[in-house]
Amino acid sequence: MASIEFDSYLERKAFDETKEGVKGLVDAKITEIPRIFHVPRDSLADKKPSVSDLEIPTIDFASVQVDTASREAVVEKVKHAAEKWGFFQVINHGIPLKVLEEIQDGVRTFHEEDPEVKKQYFTRDDDNKKFIYNSNFDLYSSSTSLNWRDSFVCYIAPDPPTPEELPVTCRDALFEYSKHVMSLGGLLFELLSEALGLESETLKSKECLKTLLMVCHYYPPCPKPDLTLGISKHSDNSFLTVLLQDNIGGLQILHQDSWVDVAPLPGSLVINIGDFLQQTFCEEKETTMVTETSIEFDPYMDRKAFDETKEGVKGLVDAKITQVPRIFHVPQDSLTGKKPSVSDLKIPTIDFASVDLDTASREAIVEKVKYAAEKWGFFQVINHGVPLKVLEEIKDGVRRFHEEDPEVKKQYFSRDLANKNFVYYSNFDLYSSSTSVNWRDTFTCYIAPDHPTPEELPVTCRDAMFEYSKHVMSLGGLLFELLSEALGLKSETLKSKECLKTLLMICHYYPPCPQPDLTLGISKHSDDSFLTILLQDNIGGLQILHQDSWVDVSPFPGALIINIGDFLQKMGTKTSVDPFMERKAFDETKEGVKGLVDAKITEVPRIFHVPRDSLADKKPSVSDLEIPIIDFASVHVDTASREAVVEKVKHAAEKWGFFQVINHGVPLNVLKEIEDGGRRFHEEDPDVKKRYFSRDLAIKNFVYNSNFDLYGSSPSVNWRDTFACYIAPDPPTPDELPVTCRDAMFEYSKHVMSLGSLLFELLSEALGLEPDILKSKECLKSLLMLCHYYPPCPQPDLTLGTSKHSDNSFLTILLQDNIGGLQILHQDSWVDVAPLPGALIINIGDFLQLITNDKFISVDHRVLANRQGPRISVASFFSSSKRANSTVYGPMKELVSEENPPKYRDITIKEYTDGYTEKGLDGTSYLMNLRI
Ligand code: OGA
Ligand code: NI
Repeated sequence: MASIEFDSYLERKAFDETKEGVKGLVDAKITEIPRIFHVPRDSLADKKPSVSDLEIPTIDFASVQVDTASREAVVEKVKHAAEKWGFFQVINHGIPLKVLEEIQDGVRTFHEEDPEVKKQYFTRDDDNKKFIYNSNFDLYSSSTSLNWRDSFVCYIAPDPPTPEELPVTCRDALFEYSKHVMSLGGLLFELLSEALGLESETLKSKECLKTLLMVCHYYPPCPKPDLTLGISKHSDNSFLTVLLQDNIGGLQILHQDSWVDVAPLPGSLVINIGDFLQQTFCEEKETTMVTETSIEFDPYMDRKAFDETKEGVKGLVDAKITQVPRIFHVPQDSLTGKKPSVSDLKIPTIDFASVDLDTASREAIVEKVKYAAEKWGFFQVINHGVPLKVLEEIKDGVRRFHEEDPEVKKQYFSRDLANKNFVYYSNFDLYSSSTSVNWRDTFTCYIAPDHPTPEELPVTCRDAMFEYSKHVMSLGGLLFELLSEALGLKSETLKSKECLKTLLMICHYYPPCPQPDLTLGISKHSDDSFLTILLQDNIGGLQILHQDSWVDVSPFPGALIINIGDFLQKMGTKTSVDPFMERKAFDETKEGVKGLVDAKITEVPRIFHVPRDSLADKKPSVSDLEIPIIDFASVHVDTASREAVVEKVKHAAEKWGFFQVINHGVPLNVLKEIEDGGRRFHEEDPDVKKRYFSRDLAIKNFVYNSNFDLYGSSPSVNWRDTFACYIAPDPPTPDELPVTCRDAMFEYSKHVMSLGSLLFELLSEALGLEPDILKSKECLKSLLMLCHYYPPCPQPDLTLGTSKHSDNSFLTILLQDNIGGLQILHQDSWVDVAPLPGALIINIGDFLQLITNDKFISVDHRVLANRQGPRISVASFFSSSKRANSTVYGPMKELVSEENPPKYRDITIKEYTDGYTEKGLDGTSYLMNLRI
């Protein structure tokens, strides 16, 4: 958060001001590397000598001027390297060995020069200087770690430096080497132009050779090479880079998802394609073709050439090609799963014949639809009411259009559905798909809400489309009714949400393919719709991914295929990756996670799975860091003692956002009672708990549920049940609370209120303000208590107890039992908050960060799932209210000034809570939405 960044800023600045770079640190004989250089934990998990046998191509330029055939052979190699690798090494490049050695020595001599001499060249932003020395050009802007490297930069062309502008240590070497680099650059741009099938001079005519910047790096030895990088992953901001490296090694390139070493090859130069060269050919599409590694070279040109034929894949087939062009090739190995599905599984087939017969028949169909939508997302319908003849007609119409004279089709060629109702093209994502182009042509027509006029449609398919779409609309109406019923809702619900309003018809034509193993008709995707009604002919090829296997959807004459689209899945679940239906089914048990554990499941259901690899950072924190522990025993003894405590609170609230308090005044037996009470409630007979099952804290004072954000946009469900109770300002009546925990809650909450009061006083003082200032802003007014129950988890590596979040409160007082699992994100690492018997954990919530204008920080935290358990925790939030409360909060006027302007806009707590709840614990901070 902001103050953490601020810390880092100060550290970076201190480093910068030494003007001695990384070398200065090494000269000072440091044995640990400073935190600002640490890469995020685990980001170097892939750091190892590349195991692959792959090597970037090495190209011998010796024969480049010998004769046409030799040159062409070199061009061919350059083309291959530029296209497939983006990197290659050149030998016999024409630069004398001596010149290479001289420049290496010159660079070393400069960097090992007396620091006082180097400092004369130290700067970051002097536009007039031709020679600049510093460490980490992006020191103040890089969002990750600093690099273990010093550099100097020299502008060579178009305006060469004068000798006086360069340090004597490397002056001659720079002039000599750069002269050679210019001429090698000239040759390289010629070869690259030829490799593109263009005139040799083309790239030079685009001024690729005009500007030359030389950056000379010095990588001091590093005492802890596993914690940092010499240069972070990047692609070059250039047309082309000529790189000379010494014999130490370390350079790696990302090739086909693996880091491949570029091993030193004495006497050679490394060449790599930069972003601009990649971009030069992509002007119209701006940066869409620019990948992170710049490895792709000319697929854009190939795709564009294909596009400009306006004849689609059919045009290729008509031209009798026998090989599938490269742009259609799927990445190697991505089709190893391609085979006729061996499984006997078939998507469900549902007969709609009796849907309007009687209630029982309809219910039976709804049941089948429910099952299919939940378990498969796909089903086939027979007796759907669309006459066979209409189906035949539309298939023929589509075929007629695609097999029409290309000149006629070209009239419709476009991708602009915003302005046209009918467009024909091949591959809507031709210029954006990062994988391969599909073996398929398509036309698309908007049918509803605004019908096309007959003239807008080609005669070949006009009537068929009108006829078929009429039927599709009415079948769609029926399907949304059945799906609504399957959700336990009123028949009209989905239609009332306008699911049926828009209809887009997409008609594909898959020409026969000479090499079907190299490409796909349609890449893997889910549909960008509420619901899709699909008609296929009898050729086959459609597969769906079901339980991790590809299952064929075999042609079934007369049937229509129905599938649930992304929007329907998202309704109620927002961006969830897990089917809404599964979450709902879990919810409806009203037994929470404990119910699953009681049922002795041995596998964690899919809806609880966190996205793969998102727990790569899950382990007991290795760091020795611990959140501060503050002893409140002396807080009322005398002024000096209190000030000492305030000082500690200030430090903790500013730097950690979290601390533990001992001697806080809440008796040990009260802590034990609330823990036991929480456990008693959760381990109560499920039928008793169900009486409290609800998410509606707006009208109830006590609710029990699992995952308050079950229907929000959190990516996975948490392994946790919870009950929640509003304690203040309107305390619940005893009969509103379950007997199992009633007394404990009253007792504990009384103490929490008074500890809260003390905390707000200390925090006010820590802000340098009157002790009552925070209370006067009603920070202490509302109290919401959550009691979490984390059942033991059979597969703790697949899920979380509580996802990463910061708290929707001013302040939270948390009691945890002795199981452990709570972690906070501190300086980019997860730090355990180890159980400390008798202590209470205090953390700053989002509102306090907001009203203190970032002086205090609301820090992200999470709870790991655990094989042991149950784990009990009680979180008491000041103040979290979904209830009407018109107080508007924004950065306190006492804390803002001209130099420190408000960082957040004003908001009411209710507004904030509604947004926070709707979003759910999706790992992002809601506070950031209010940033000015
Ligand atoms: C919370 C929370 C942590 C825990 O309820 O906001 O972070 O240990 N709880 O249960
Ligand atoms: Ni929390």
